[in-house]
Amino acid sequence: MDALGALTSNTGRLTCCHRYKEKRMIFKRFNEDIDAFMARDPAAQSRFEVVLCYPGFHSLLYYRLSNWLWRKNWRLLARFISSVGRLVTLIEIHPGAEIGRRFVIDHGSGIVIGETSIIGDDVTLYQGVTLGGVSPSVDSHMQIDQKRHPTLANDVIIGSGAQILGPIVIGEGARVGANAVVHKDVPAGVTAVGIPARVVMPRDKEKAKEFVAYGEPVDGVPDPVLRTIEDLRNQVTALMKHVDELDNRLDGDVGGEGNAEATSGDKQTKQKVIAASGGQS
Ligand SMILES: CC(C)(COP(=O)(O)OP(=O)(O)OC[C@H]1O[C@@H](n2cnc3c(N)ncnc32)[C@H](O)[C@@H]1OP(=O)(O)O)[C@@H](O)C(=O)NCCC(=O)NCCS
Repeated sequence: MDALGALTSNTGRLTCCHRYKEKRMIFKRFNEDIDAFMARDPAAQSRFEVVLCYPGFHSLLYYRLSNWLWRKNWRLLARFISSVGRLVTLIEIHPGAEIGRRFVIDHGSGIVIGETSIIGDDVTLYQGVTLGGVSPSVDSHMQIDQKRHPTLANDVIIGSGAQILGPIVIGEGARVGANAVVHKDVPAGVTAVGIPARVVMPRDKEKAKEFVAYGEPVDGVPDPVLRTIEDLRNQVTALMKHVDELDNRLDGDVGGEGNAEATSGDKQTKQKVIAASGGQS
């Protein structure tokens, strides 16, 4: 065999080997995706069911193909495949979005994932989630090729109907409650709920105890503003109790008839303050 023949045959073997590795990798990734659905959806009965009946899984297949085409610069075809995917699954993922491994979309209808979104590994989305821009229609030409969609770090969970808007970052392991509207960064490991979304409590309840303001637990109040007011009321009550104790001690020390009138006047003033704070002495 001459040199040219040897070179051609070696190149052919290398290409073949490369293709084989690529195919194995794709197969491995699909397996991983199916495992992720099995692990995160209690309703999933078998891997076969995931492949046949899960629109979230189907949308991932459309996305992987359209994203590959997008990266090869076959953009119109990529958009076309993506829109066929949307027609079939009701999930719209722009082929330009970057999505990590073991991504799970449960149910999925109504989900929109914008062009410059970045999604890490092991992320879960429920139906109706938008990863969108803040005002795509205003000065849209200025926004071309700008990062205008969110970044979700690894292990993030976004509840159904949540709207995540702008080039913000949802930190690792954070959870966003159903129907929240998020327009600011969310730190790692916390839960954000409401409109606009606010951090309610770190996910880890043990850790959460360390974060309770003023050391007074406030149970059963999901609204963060009410929670803060409740905290302050508890703090005022605790302070007034403390002042009372100090007063009583002082009364005991000083004693005497002459001071009795002044002391009862002081106590009345204190009662008024406690009543105004809404607490009880
Ligand atoms: C946010 C969520 C992920 C829970 O996260 P978590 O870290 O376990 O937080 P908790 O359940 O401990 O809730 C923390 C606080 O936020 C409140 N909260 C939870 N979800 C909320 C929501 N969507 N909106 C408003 N408040 C919410 C809770 O009442 C709780 O308040 P409390 O501490 O005063 O009792 C979950 O409530 C949620 O919304 N999941 C989405 C699930 C979904 O979309 N399901 C659809 C499947 S089809």
